[in-house]
Amino acid sequence: MAAAAEQSAEHFRGQARLPGFAAPRRYDLRLAPDLAACAFAGSVAVDLDVAAPTRFLVLNAAELDVAPGGVGFAPRGSGQVLQPVEVTNVPEDEILIICFNEVLPLGEGTLTIAFQGTLNDKMHGFYRSVYELNGEKKNMAVTQFEPADARRCFPCWDEPAFKAVFKITLEVPSETVALSNMPVIEEKVNGPTKTVYFQESPIMSTYLVAVIVGIFDYVEDFTTDGTRVRVYTQVGKSAQGKFALEVALKTLVLFKEYFAVPYPLPKMDMIAIPDFASGAMENYGLVTYRETALLFDEKHSAAANKQRVAVVVAHELAHQWFGNLVTMEWWTHLWLNEGFATWVSYLAADQFFPEWNVWTQFLEESTTGFKLDALAGSHPIEVDINHVDEIDEIFDAISYRKGASVIRMLQSYLGAEVFQKSLAAYIKRFAYSNAKTEDLWAALEEGSGEPVRTLMHSWTKQQGYPVVSVKLKDGKLQLEQTQFLSSGSTGVGQWVVPVTLCCCSYSRQEKFLFDGKQEDFDLSGLMECQKKDNFWIKLNVNQTSFYRVSYDEELASRLRYAIETNKLSAADRYGVLDDAYALCMAGKQKLVSLLHLIATYKDETEYTVLAHAITTSLNIAEMMAVAAPEELGSLKKFLIDFLEPFAQKLGWDAKSGEGHLNALLRGTLLTALAELGHEATINEAVRRFNVFLEDRETPLLPPDVRKAAYVALMQTVNKSNKTGYESLLKIYRETDLSQEKVRVLGSLASCPDPVVVREALDFILSPEVRNQDAIFLLRGVCSGAHEVAWQWLKENWDYILGAYSGTLLTYFVNITVSPLATDEKGDEAEEFFKSRTKASIARTVKQSIERVRINAQWVKSIKGEADLGNVIRALAHKQ
Ligand code: BES
Ligand code: ZN
Repeated sequence: MAAAAEQSAEHFRGQARLPGFAAPRRYDLRLAPDLAACAFAGSVAVDLDVAAPTRFLVLNAAELDVAPGGVGFAPRGSGQVLQPVEVTNVPEDEILIICFNEVLPLGEGTLTIAFQGTLNDKMHGFYRSVYELNGEKKNMAVTQFEPADARRCFPCWDEPAFKAVFKITLEVPSETVALSNMPVIEEKVNGPTKTVYFQESPIMSTYLVAVIVGIFDYVEDFTTDGTRVRVYTQVGKSAQGKFALEVALKTLVLFKEYFAVPYPLPKMDMIAIPDFASGAMENYGLVTYRETALLFDEKHSAAANKQRVAVVVAHELAHQWFGNLVTMEWWTHLWLNEGFATWVSYLAADQFFPEWNVWTQFLEESTTGFKLDALAGSHPIEVDINHVDEIDEIFDAISYRKGASVIRMLQSYLGAEVFQKSLAAYIKRFAYSNAKTEDLWAALEEGSGEPVRTLMHSWTKQQGYPVVSVKLKDGKLQLEQTQFLSSGSTGVGQWVVPVTLCCCSYSRQEKFLFDGKQEDFDLSGLMECQKKDNFWIKLNVNQTSFYRVSYDEELASRLRYAIETNKLSAADRYGVLDDAYALCMAGKQKLVSLLHLIATYKDETEYTVLAHAITTSLNIAEMMAVAAPEELGSLKKFLIDFLEPFAQKLGWDAKSGEGHLNALLRGTLLTALAELGHEATINEAVRRFNVFLEDRETPLLPPDVRKAAYVALMQTVNKSNKTGYESLLKIYRETDLSQEKVRVLGSLASCPDPVVVREALDFILSPEVRNQDAIFLLRGVCSGAHEVAWQWLKENWDYILGAYSGTLLTYFVNITVSPLATDEKGDEAEEFFKSRTKASIARTVKQSIERVRINAQWVKSIKGEADLGNVIRALAHKQ
C-alpha cells in the first residue's frame, strides 16, 4: 500500500477489486436527465479519505464521457485544486485512472468530476423505460445498479464495501415526479425545469442508490410507528398498489421486531417499472419492481399473482436490513443477502397468510436448489468472484434457493428463538457496515453454543450436497453419505449433516449430527414401533435439511404404504417423491418404481405436493417422448386418469369462500390436463374462452384458470387454423395488465405444430414484446418443440446478444438448451458456444450442456427398462 506512490497506471489494470488507498466518505451527486433525448449530464463531488501516499485515484466508470478538464482534486484546507495530468478510461476493467503530477496529501480531499451519458435501453445503469400517458408514449428515467452498474451513471467506488453518504440533487422537467432513496427537502421550479434536493442518506453502498423520474400516481399510508410508505404506479393504476401497500406496512413492522432494529430511513417508496430486468430491486428506501411483482388487480389478477406480490415485497423489505443496513463485504457473500431475504420472506408470508402453507411451498425453492447443485458445474455458496462479468450469473438457485434452504436447516437445528436473537445481535454489530459469511456464523455460534462454523462450512464452502443412504439391518439403521450428482457419478464431498428421523409417528424424533462417511444408528429404543406391521421410518423430518435420502427397498415400500394410509406430513410426502425422482434421473432407481410411487398420491390433499407430482409427471412424459415415443400414449393416459378425479372435484368455477390453495391447484391441474391433451378439459376451455373473448368480465373465465384455458386453446391451433393463436394475441394487445400479458405469452408456444411455435418465437423479437418479457414465451415452449426453439435461438443469437444482457441473456441459454435430451444436441450446443464464449454466460452454458448430457443418459436408461411398456399399461388400467 505504501508503495502506491511509485506505481504506474498499468498496475491497476486487470484487478478484481479497486485499490484501497483512497476511500469515499460522501458523494454530492447532481444528475440532469433529458428524457426526450435519452441522455443525461451530471457532476459528482466525492469527499475522500486518502490513506496512503499515491499519485493516482482509481475508481469505477463505464459508458460515461468524462472530459479530463472536468476533473479536479481539492485537498481539504489547502485552498487549491489539483488538475490531473492524465485521466485514463479502461473500458475492459470499467475503471477510471486519474493520475496527478504530485503525491496527494494524506487525509481528506474532494474529487470533482463532470460527466455525460446515455439513458440506455438495457435495463441497467441509468436507463429509460417506456410508458403510455393519455395515449402518448413517454420515457421515464430509472436506475438499476446492482450488482455493478452505478458506474454507468456516475463515477464512483462501485463495490459494496465502499459505503458512503449520498446527497442527491436532480434537475428534471417540472411536471415530473422525481424520486430517490431519501425524502425531498426542497423543490425549486424554474419554468420548464425544477431542481429537486433530497435529504442526505445514511452511509450505504453504491449498488443501492436509486433515482427515478417520470409521471406517476401513488397510494400512501403510514406504519404503526410512523414510517411513510407509498406505492407508485402508472397514472390511473394506483388502486392496483393497495395490496402491496398493505403487505409492506405489516412487513416493516414485523421485521423491525424480528431484527430488533427500526427501519432506518424516514420513508419507503415502492414503484412499478414497465421495463425491468429482474423481479424487483431493494434500493434503500426506493424499491423498484416489475409490474407483475407489485400490482394486484382485484378483478384480473390470479391467486398466484397475489402470492408473488406478497413474497417479493417481503423479500425486498427484508433487504432493507439484511443487505442494506448490513451489507456483504464482497459478492462472494451475495448469498447472505439473497439466501437470507428469500428465507425470511417466507417467514413473513407465513405470518400474514397462514392459510397459504408457504413453508410447504418453500420446498419448491429447495428442489430448484437441489437441481442446480447436483451438477458438476455448480459452485459453492461462497463463490470466488474475480471479474465484474462473473457477478450476474451468481444470482442463481445456489445463492437464493440453496442459500435459503441451508439457513432454514440451521434455524431448525438451532431453534427459532436462539436463531432470531443471534441474528438480531449480528445486525446490531454490523449495522452501517459490511459482513462476511464467517461473521454470521460467529454470531450464531456465540448465541447458541453450537459448532455453527464447522457445521456450516461444509455447506457453504463446498458445492453439492449429500444423499444419505439408509438400510435397515439387525435392528440397526446403517447410514452412509455420498455426494449426490444427477449424472449418477459419486462426488467426493462430505458434510456435517443434521439428521432427524422419526419412526411410525411424529411425536418422537431423533436428532443428531452425522459427520462421518458411515454410521450405525441403534433403533433399539424404538423396538416397540419396529414390531408393528405398518412400521415406517422417515429421515429429514419435514424436509427441513438440505440432503436427499435413498431408502433400501424394504424401507421405501413401507414409506409408500405410509403415504397411502396418510401417515406422513405434507412436507414428507413431498420429500419422498422429490428424492425418488432425483434418484431415478440419476439412474439409481427404475422409472417403473417412480411411476408406482406417483400412483400412491391419488388421494393427495395438499396443493404443493400434488403440484409437484404434476411437475414430476410432466417431466417424465417429456423424457418418454424422446426415449419411447410409442409408450407416450399410455403414459399420458395413466397421468390423465391420475389427475382427472382431482379436476372433477375442483371444477372450473371457484366455490364461494374456498381457499387460496384451491385456486392455485385449479390452475395447475387444468393446465397440466390441457398439456396432456385431455379432450374434455380442452373442449370446456375453448367453450369458456369464446365467451371470454366477447366479454372480458365474464365469470366463466376467472384469472386463476385463464392460463389453463389459453394453453388448452393452443392445443387446437395448427398452421392452417390459427384462429386460437390470433384470439390470444388480441387479448394480449387489448389488456394493459402485465400479468395478463404474461399469461398469454406463457401459452403461445404451447402448440403441437412446430410452424406455429416458430411464429410465436419470432413474436418475442417484435416491438410488441418488451425485452423483459421474452423469457415467459420461451418458458412456455411445449415439450415437443424444444428442438425448434434451439434452432431458433441459434439463428437469432447475434440479435439476442445485442439486445439482451445480464441474467436475461443467461435465461435464453438455460431455458432453450437445458431441455434438449440427446447427445447429438449436446455436441451441437457445445460446438455452437465454443466460438461464442463470453464471461457473462460461461457458467450457464456449461451447466445447460451438462443438463443435456444428463437428460440423454436418462433417456438411454429409460430405453433399457425392458418391462416399462407393460407396467405403464397395467398402471393405466388399474386406475
Ligand atoms: N437484489 C435482487 C435484484 C437483482 C437480481 C439484482 C439480479 C441484480 C441481479 C432482488 O432482491 C431480488 O432478489 N429479486 C428477485 C425477487 C425475489 C422475490 C426472489 C428477482 O428479481 O427475481
Ligand atoms: Zn433479493
